[in-house]
Amino acid sequence: MKRQDLLVERLKKYRESEMYPFHMPGHKRQVEGFLGDFPNPFSIDLTEIDGFDNLHHAEGILRESMDWAANVYGADKSYYLVNGSSGGILSAICGSVRSKGRMIMARNCHKSTYHGVILKNMEVSYVYPQILEKLWINGGISAKDVEESLKRFPDAQAVFLVSPTYEGVVSDVASIASVVHERKIPLIVDEAHGAHFFIGEDFPVSALKCGADIVIQSLHKTLPSFTQTAILHVKSKFVDLERLEWYLQVFQSSSPSYVLMAGMEECIFEMEEHGKEYFKKFTQRLERLRKSLSGMKVLKLLDESAVGTSGVYGLDQSKIVVSCYETGVGGAKLGDWLREKYGLEVEMCGIDYVVMITTILDTQEGLCRLENALLEIDQEIAGNRLQRKWRMGEGITKKMKWNEGEEKEGGMKKTGYKRNTKAELTLAEAFEAKWERVPVAACAGRISCEFIYLYPPGVPIIVPGERMDDEIIRQICEYKEKGLLVQGMEDKRAEVIKVCAEKGNAGDTKERN
Ligand SMILES: Cc1ncc(COP(=O)(O)O)c(C=O)c1O
Repeated sequence: MKRQDLLVERLKKYRESEMYPFHMPGHKRQVEGFLGDFPNPFSIDLTEIDGFDNLHHAEGILRESMDWAANVYGADKSYYLVNGSSGGILSAICGSVRSKGRMIMARNCHKSTYHGVILKNMEVSYVYPQILEKLWINGGISAKDVEESLKRFPDAQAVFLVSPTYEGVVSDVASIASVVHERKIPLIVDEAHGAHFFIGEDFPVSALKCGADIVIQSLHKTLPSFTQTAILHVKSKFVDLERLEWYLQVFQSSSPSYVLMAGMEECIFEMEEHGKEYFKKFTQRLERLRKSLSGMKVLKLLDESAVGTSGVYGLDQSKIVVSCYETGVGGAKLGDWLREKYGLEVEMCGIDYVVMITTILDTQEGLCRLENALLEIDQEIAGNRLQRKWRMGEGITKKMKWNEGEEKEGGMKKTGYKRNTKAELTLAEAFEAKWERVPVAACAGRISCEFIYLYPPGVPIIVPGERMDDEIIRQICEYKEKGLLVQGMEDKRAEVIKVCAEKGNAGDTKERN
């Protein structure tokens, strides 16, 4: 390899470019200001030498630091995570649900949640987010759906939700917590995208304050902290701390980085000391940006008008979600446009929308660049030339049909992806089953060994262990024909699915979900 091809050289080159990050990490590489006081990482990179405690058996400075953090957040206990929220999610699940036990979970959870389910060979019952129809993104989870699921599955040992979602959609965690607590089991909330809620007054109330028992937050996503830094909070009488702590050791390095830990402590300290000022200024900048973007003609901003619809209880204003649904342009094209013409890198491109992460460390200049770029693109699309070309196509997601959800009081319950999928095996059993690859069209009646997603909104259509019926196969084929992104299978072209080898070898077919 040549020196110029080394990762570090590529990173340095990128650093010198004009590209502006509307993605994580939340520090946005703004190394001036309080980040500028942070020492060269090599100069403070230690291991568990005398006087520096041990994260896995914290009794000294790390214990004091985490107790202080718990106090700042209003938790009973807080734990620094050096393996992102992923490690915290795995620990929370494994520490709360026994092997082969049952968990009720939102179907739109991050893959680490599913990984926890597989590791403990759990039974799962799903609650489905509603869908924000125009944007085709996940709305919220309702307390009523959770309550119904708890009634149907009284053996559930925990409930797991993601709030906010990637797009900033917040569910009514307080109401959900109260129905979960009637069963004396914990509510675990993946708040990976909401680490800033505890400090920003104009942001949704953190799940911890709403009564969730275990809350996991990625500091690196929305606050100025190094990538991989996250924190897990507990405030509960339904959590077995010893078991949780044991799993935190299992899922984290025995050599946790002091650079990362010092970085997250510094981040929380700064937020406690000066966070309110930072967030006040940030909110003013966001209000300005949002007001200006609300005037776009054909691009549409996900805004407060979504609150109160499709289970959306609150919205994180710092996520700039722009829909190009009515233009036919497509999210990937809009993302390319922002990158190539304006030097702006977005966090995520959906089919008909893009997501941009903004944080307190975004500069006024950066936000202005985003504002001008979006207004200009909007103008251009709305202009005659492009409009004629693109208007011929309708919003790409418009071509997707609501699938048959539950019949409710004379109308279709808009759960989007809710189907009568039947779990014949647990995810773990299917994962470990003998498999064969079968063309999609021939998979009706077979049990999948893979996840199958439609992205967005990223809710699995099928998870391992579920039997696929004609209707599901027909819909998967239809999505593919329409050029939608069917993902999750090993076969990237989504032509074959790994299914359990012996047809009918489904073990015990008991009611699983
Ligand atoms: C909703 C959600 N939860 C959890 C995670 C995992 O977080 P981390 O990258 O900190 O491990 C992610 C990552 O993007 C996420 O989007």
